Amino acid sequence: MAPQASKKVRKVVFPVAGLGTRFLPATKTIPKEMLTVVDKPVIQYAVEEAIEAGIEHFVFVTGRGKGAIEDHFDIAYELEATLKARGKTAEFEMLKTSRPVAGTASFVRQQEPLGLGHAVWCARDIVGDEPFALALPDMLIHAKPGCFAQMIDIYEKHGGNVVAVEEVPHEHVNRYGIVALGQEFNAATHKITGMVEKPKIEEAPSNLIISGRYILQPEIFQKLATQKPGAGGEIQLTDSMIALLAEQDFFSYRFAGTTYDCGDKIGYLAANVVYALDRPDIAPKFKPVLDKILGR
Ligand code: G1P
Repeated sequence: MAPQASKKVRKVVFPVAGLGTRFLPATKTIPKEMLTVVDKPVIQYAVEEAIEAGIEHFVFVTGRGKGAIEDHFDIAYELEATLKARGKTAEFEMLKTSRPVAGTASFVRQQEPLGLGHAVWCARDIVGDEPFALALPDMLIHAKPGCFAQMIDIYEKHGGNVVAVEEVPHEHVNRYGIVALGQEFNAATHKITGMVEKPKIEEAPSNLIISGRYILQPEIFQKLATQKPGAGGEIQLTDSMIALLAEQDFFSYRFAGTTYDCGDKIGYLAANVVYALDRPDIAPKFKPVLDKILGR
């Protein structure tokens, strides 16, 4: 199967309709994607990762109660006018540069929680007939360059579909989508020969998980259109990728970086510590506090 010609990846899809029940009561009125890591909402890290990779259009698959995400990427006119009038230039510029250019953010609602595959399918008209990136924003990937920038390099070499993967302890494989690997192109890049969503531990073909970053060809939407529910009774993206694997190449890419699962309390707390220690304006003051807490 020859890889498809590499059309530029211009759009990214963010499924952000999930209820965030693991973060109640915070998520009663705040979308989980708006919870902050240090001082920035989790969703904004994913948007910045896409911008760094040259992606130009941001598609948010939202749901009821997620209006704060749309507001976050809009002009806050009154706030910005006040900041400007008070001479708070740095804060004003930060807000100005961190929002998408007018017309480059689209929002569509997933009306019912039918699964990740269904959420992605809801973006089909906005994405159209071109390859696209997909990010599950809960999976915050600490990497330099960012995970998408690394994946675009692989996509430009190989075409097809690219799935970011990473190793987990074998006893955790039943929580994720798992890949089976074939031909090696280099230590980080392999052909994918199979995938399975949330396998039984003894049936998993490897301990390499699908880590929440994908570059997909638009034919995935045709598979999603008729996808029957799979693991957990949900319409699973992985099942449609398996169907497309019979027709197109899929490459796994072991990115250089660390994932913090911000959909989980421990991962979210760890992300706050790591991103704070990464900030030159915060780390020198935060590190001694952390050392004291830990009795070091
Ligand atoms: C989804 C995907 C799964 C992937 C995981 C990463 O599962 O279906 O393949 O490994 O995200 O977080 P979910 O976490 O939505 O159950």
